[in-house]
Amino acid sequence: MDNLEKKTPVVERAYAKINLILAVTAKRTDGYHELQTVFQSLALHDTLTFTANAGEEIALATNNPSLSAGPDNLIWRAAERLKQFYKVRAGVKIYLEKRIPLAAGLGGGSSDAAAALRGLVRFWQLPREPEVLWRIAAELGSDVPYCLAGGTALGTGRGEHLRPLPPCPHFYVVLANPGFPVATAEVYQTLREAELAPTAAVAGMLQALAEQNRMAVMRHLMNTLEKAAFRLYPQVKALKEIMAGTGAALMCGSGPTVFSLLPTVTAATALQETLWRQGYQVWLTETMQQPEGAKWLM
Ligand code: C5P
Repeated sequence: MDNLEKKTPVVERAYAKINLILAVTAKRTDGYHELQTVFQSLALHDTLTFTANAGEEIALATNNPSLSAGPDNLIWRAAERLKQFYKVRAGVKIYLEKRIPLAAGLGGGSSDAAAALRGLVRFWQLPREPEVLWRIAAELGSDVPYCLAGGTALGTGRGEHLRPLPPCPHFYVVLANPGFPVATAEVYQTLREAELAPTAAVAGMLQALAEQNRMAVMRHLMNTLEKAAFRLYPQVKALKEIMAGTGAALMCGSGPTVFSLLPTVTAATALQETLWRQGYQVWLTETMQQPEGAKWLM
């Protein structure tokens, strides 16, 4: 009991992400799609706290009652996989303070799973073996490997093959959500062959990042999944049209959140107020560079 009480809690942040480019280039035979995507971390985050648990059990609790805190939660699955791999003979209590909206296209669940892997390496004092974490992460979901390292990165394959990119120039980011969840698989299934992106679609954004050119970053935003999501949910299209009126706007991942990149806090606050008045859920955040503590992962 003494030992349990003495163990220092570990705190880990799980950052939301947007895709500056989400180019779906081909349908694969394994049910997934081939992507070229530019991921970008946002300052908006969930917080995971790890404390000692008697015995060898994993326990999970969260402030969000609409989220399962059972073995089907991706955090729990991440903990279980890591525990099995390293044959850990200890338990953990994980508390998730949820702020990222659920099923919103912001990678909240994937980021929580990645933060659980990073946090438990520290909490259980496991070896720092990036390749082990990458493998477990890729099994948990296509976006989980990126979420391990964060920052600005190019993802290929189903999004799990990663290359770091020059950090995106700073932007304020307004996120607006029409208030319903979207099933990622359904959006991919609705995508038509003729809507697939050419493999060169990502080139302009890579150049914009290399040159640190903010206007070019705004100009090159693209998401192949918009057409499919707009067909399923015309409300998302209406939301994007409102946001595009103020500058560069794009649907996040498979939706339904839409983001806008804004150069000043004044412009961002004005857009936030317009959207509030129209009844949308709105968040004002900013782009984030890779956290120091995650650098060993990519
Ligand atoms: O990997 P993850 O569980 O996040 O993917 C959820 C669903 O999204 C998959 O089951 C698949 O239908 C679709 N998907 C896809 N191609 C990708 C990523 C996801 O078709 N590259």
